[in-house]
This record gives sequence, structure tokens and C-alpha cells, in this order.
Amino acid sequence: MASVEGAKDPESVYAIIVKDAKGNSVDLSNYRGKVLLIVNVASKCGMTNSNYTELNELHNKYKDKVFCVAGLEILAFPCNQFGEEEPGTNNEITEFVCTRFHSEFPIFEKIEVNGENASPLYKFLKKGKWEIFGDDIQWNFAKFLVDKNGQAVERYYPTTSPLSLERDIRKLLGMS
Ligand SMILES: *[C@@H]1O[C@H](CO)[C@@H](O)[C@H](O)[C@H]1NC(C)=O
Repeated sequence: MASVEGAKDPESVYAIIVKDAKGNSVDLSNYRGKVLLIVNVASKCGMTNSNYTELNELHNKYKDKVFCVAGLEILAFPCNQFGEEEPGTNNEITEFVCTRFHSEFPIFEKIEVNGENASPLYKFLKKGKWEIFGDDIQWNFAKFLVDKNGQAVERYYPTTSPLSLERDIRKLLGMS
């Protein structure tokens, strides 16, 4: 019984519905069977360049089926909660990312990741056993890895570079 918000207490990301940059609903069960790297992004962060560059690199390397296993998808969620470094509209953000970085992974609608109005996806992601991280997302470019069963299995600080996740991604893809 998925509403636009998705299930109240989702058991996996597949029960969650998000919106794309145009406001259309996207059922995350569309990504069933893939390894997902979920990132809260911002366009005006001093670290925007290096993060997108490395995210693109990971995406290009692992997006397609590798050795007959489903590949990696990166889901980017713009968020303006950190230093107001994502002030633009959804259109401006998508255009910026597409023209500047030629990213091929989806950029979703701008959301909140912390607080009452945090998106159901982030409420779900943060619910895991992440003792050392505390509840809140610290800054732009925090990263979560979701396994092929839709469970958040790894969480990384914003300062962790995308490329340093490669080992964990390969493991989840069954390539290690
Ligand atoms: C990505 O962004 C974070 C947070 O702003 C930053 O600490 C990190 O150095 C950036 N670059 C890479 C390659 O991770």
C-alpha cells in the first residue's frame, strides 16, 4: 500500500518512493537487485568538484553489469541543509550537474536529510546501527551503500572519498 510517501515503516529502500527533479514519483523498487550508493549532494560546496568527479568514475566503472551481476547505481539527493550550499531550484541543480560533470546517474528532487522533515529515505537510512555516526548527517556528500536486498549496510562520513568505497562496492557486487 505505497502512498506517495511510501510505507510508514519500510523494511527496505524498495518500500520507499522518492521524487525525481521534475517532481515525478520514483519507486525505489525500480532499483531492486542493484548495489546503491546514496549521496546527499550540493553544488556550491568547495568539495563539489572532487566528489562528483569520483562519483562519475565509480559510476562509469560499475554501472553496467559486471561479470554477469547487476551493477552499481548512484542516487544523488540535493540538500540545502549544510551551509546553504545547494540554493538552486531542482532544474538549476540538474543542469549544473549535467553540464558541468556530465553525470549519468539520477539527481532527485531537493530534500531535507535531518530533522522533522527529513525524507523517508533518510529516516530509513539513518535508522541502522551507526553508533559512531550519531543520528544526523554531518555535511554534504555523506555516503550510504545499500546492498542487493535494499538494506543500508555501510555508512561513510562526508570526508570519505567516493573512490575509497570501491572495495566495499566490489564486495557487494560479488566481485571481490
Ligand atoms: C567530498 O566532500 C567532502 C565534504 O565536503 C570532503 O571532505 C571531501 O574531501 C570531498 N572530496 C572527496 C574526493 O571525497
